[in-house]
Amino acid sequence: MAINERETRLMEKGSKKYYLKTYGCQMNELDSSQMGRLLKKEGFLATQTPEEADLILINTCSIREKASQKLYSDIGRFRSLKLQRPDLLLGVAGCQAQAEGIQLKKRFAYLDFILGPDHHQKISEVIKKTSEQPSFAAQLGFAQPKDYQFVNLLPDEEENQVKAFVTIMKGCDNFCSFCIVPYVRGREVCRSAEDIVSEVKQLAELGVKEVTLLGQNVNSYGMGRHRLEEKTHSKKPGVISFTQLLKRISQETDIQRIRFTTSHPKDFPLELMEEFASNPKLAQHFHLPVQSGSNEVLKNMYRGYSYEEYLSLIENFRKLAPEASLSTDIIVGFPGETEADFQKTLQLLKEVQFDSIYSFHYSVRPKTTAANYFKDDVPLETKKERLLRLQTLQNEITLKRNQKYIGKELKVLVEGASKQSSVIKDNSFCGRSSQNHMLHFKGEESDIGQIISIKVTHAGPNSMLGEKYGN
Ligand code: SAH
Ligand code: SF4
Ligand code: F3S
Repeated sequence: MAINERETRLMEKGSKKYYLKTYGCQMNELDSSQMGRLLKKEGFLATQTPEEADLILINTCSIREKASQKLYSDIGRFRSLKLQRPDLLLGVAGCQAQAEGIQLKKRFAYLDFILGPDHHQKISEVIKKTSEQPSFAAQLGFAQPKDYQFVNLLPDEEENQVKAFVTIMKGCDNFCSFCIVPYVRGREVCRSAEDIVSEVKQLAELGVKEVTLLGQNVNSYGMGRHRLEEKTHSKKPGVISFTQLLKRISQETDIQRIRFTTSHPKDFPLELMEEFASNPKLAQHFHLPVQSGSNEVLKNMYRGYSYEEYLSLIENFRKLAPEASLSTDIIVGFPGETEADFQKTLQLLKEVQFDSIYSFHYSVRPKTTAANYFKDDVPLETKKERLLRLQTLQNEITLKRNQKYIGKELKVLVEGASKQSSVIKDNSFCGRSSQNHMLHFKGEESDIGQIISIKVTHAGPNSMLGEKYGN
């Protein structure tokens, strides 16, 4: 739509504004972008100031207790705005909305609507209904897998066009004993390969250079522990493996770089490892959450692999893809974790030498097997102390691994001007290497959206500095 035409439409609608706050993982980020795009279609403009918003929407996460507490303080904070302006709409979306359901309304009577993650595409409908006739609306629960509809509104000219997320599946069937995701995101449903390839094609045509394929367990794409026809919604489901999907996207679209997250160690076939070695479009970074180094803990987490099996996967992977970086997720203080168990996790970090890790202390989540059957018996102080020891060890490893790149050349997709502009005085730009390192360098506007060679000059634990090299 032409800008003028859009502006006229917004004026007619009185340019309502929405304030959208997002917690959680990339899936929530993508759901938020989709809701934002739908709201724009309804004539809403985004604002960063809740005080001037006509709609406040909080897209929530429930992965750990802390995440859910943030929601309560937010809703409380927006109460006074709601009291001053009763026509202000206040809604809660996402995983915590699903986890608490209408209990949230009981606790915060002034809430206007609640949208579970399977229903974020209904945002326009819900807004229209609640603003026309003030009444509370709740859309919760899960669609039948065969009825689930993936939304894919493309980014518009105001959004970052360099990289984009693409959903390839939703939900999770793994039921790791600590994890709330299967209860708040529902069963696994795969999107058809046709739809995925077509979306990536359109994104590439818009100028997007890199896509990240999203799912809780992407390497089980197309594998169907349930009947496959239930897991796909298209008439032409295009049932292929995850590796075949990567091949199709690489061959049939002009996208330059492909990432994906998250993978599960129990489904990491040789063909996927080989794809890293042979597909130049595949970013050389692999995130493979291990959670713990103790076999006893892994068993109680229902992860389905042992320390030894994980290590052997990593050894095979490193042989085939020596250039690739590796990252993982770790939980410390899972029920029953002893000092000896924790030492095994430290040993794993030393042995694998990950490039980076995300680490958390265990938090009890409602409905999960661990909440129902295992006692949360590691004291908070011990959890915090273990987390600190773990992170101290990993910081040293990360720094050492990053410093190995000094003097080497990395291929960086330039995303924009550096926020850390003090790092390099003028014209500081930033982007990510294929291995997922954040790099800052002196560049120019026209570098944005290009993949360029940067020679690394300095390396810290979180980012690197470099210089443009032979471009
Ligand atoms: N699907 C991904 C993970 C999604 S959740 C996977 O299977 O790896 C992201 C991370 O949050 C998990 O890998 C885990 O490390 C952490 N996490 C999940 N539940 C948690 C809990 N109850 N307490 C602490 N950390 C948790
Ligand atoms: Fe949670 Fe396990 Fe599913 Fe990951 S694979 S989302 S940790 S249940
Ligand atoms: Fe959080 Fe839901 Fe993602 S619980 S981590 S936002 S899937």
